[in-house]
Amino acid sequence: MGDVSFDGRVAIVTGAGAGLGKTYAIELAKRGAKVVVNDLGGARDGTGSSASAADQVVEEIKAAGGEAAANYDSVASIEGGKNIVKTAVDNFGTVDIVINNAGILRDKSIVKMVEAEWDLVLAVHLKGAFCVTQPAFSIMKEKGYGRVVNTTSGAGLYGNFGQINYSSAKLGVLGVMHSVHIEGAKYNVKANTIAPIAASRLTEDVMPPDVFAKLDPKFVTPLVLFLASEENQDSDMIFNCAAGWYSRAAMMCATGTIIGDGVKDISVEQVRDEWGKITSLDEAKVLAGGVNDSFGYLTPLMSGGMSTGPNK
Ligand code: NAI
Repeated sequence: MGDVSFDGRVAIVTGAGAGLGKTYAIELAKRGAKVVVNDLGGARDGTGSSASAADQVVEEIKAAGGEAAANYDSVASIEGGKNIVKTAVDNFGTVDIVINNAGILRDKSIVKMVEAEWDLVLAVHLKGAFCVTQPAFSIMKEKGYGRVVNTTSGAGLYGNFGQINYSSAKLGVLGVMHSVHIEGAKYNVKANTIAPIAASRLTEDVMPPDVFAKLDPKFVTPLVLFLASEENQDSDMIFNCAAGWYSRAAMMCATGTIIGDGVKDISVEQVRDEWGKITSLDEAKVLAGGVNDSFGYLTPLMSGGMSTGPNK
């Protein structure tokens, strides 16, 4: 098999002025993609803005013989998202790939968090993924091709102290993935999500220096590029990745148990008595067909005992 190529492809990488996004933009360009390097250029908490972060990455790509255009809009508004996609269309004629990567942090424990900290973090991570994906998706649908890679976090998938805003936003990003996967299926638009761990300004004060030193963002880049490539035929998947560790994570649904017959009342005591079966993850499955698959579990109640299982 040959190299994974992005010749003729146009990619948007949000938050590509630093950290993980910068590595994606540079590697995509090296492999032939024309890249929109989007970055607001603000501080880690989302304050301020500057053109220099995006400009420097564009210069680096051009100096290496690649093609790139800078965009300085915030991902966090519909107008910003449209401008980012317009930058791709104006400079390179289309968009094939969106990597939703831009991010900030405003950590506080639950009681101390104020409204602005909640709102801005949700706006950048969650609304931002929607705002950039929406205008790109209409182009992808039209042309019958697209690859979207979103960025969640272990904090979103599994939780973390002091990050109720970030955890909630990052979990929400999975909703953006599911929708693009389902609505894009017949147009060859695939969406996947990564949960990276990497050394960057977002993590420099939360990791011990020896751990930080081993978490070069370059170890996340190959997975993101594969997911963004034509060769990738998988969609609606979530991956942990850090320092060379790549593993799939998933939202799953267990078989559980059925109490009653769908007619008679169910008591609190019956739920208590079945608690072991209700909490069991036995035979848990990914519901590949989306929410409709969950109705399969209700079949015994809906059709007088006939069971066809969740993934019919
Ligand atoms: P970083 O701070 O180095 O890079 C993020 C970039 O996004 C910055 O250049 C920043 O200017 C840009 N940005 C921020 N707000 C923006 C906005 N509204 N519009 C456009 N650009 C904006 O951080 P890092 O670590 O590279 O993070 C990349 C993504 O990976 C983020 O979504 C982050 O939440 C996620 N992530 C990172 C982890 C890590 O261990 N570094 C862990 C889990 C998730």
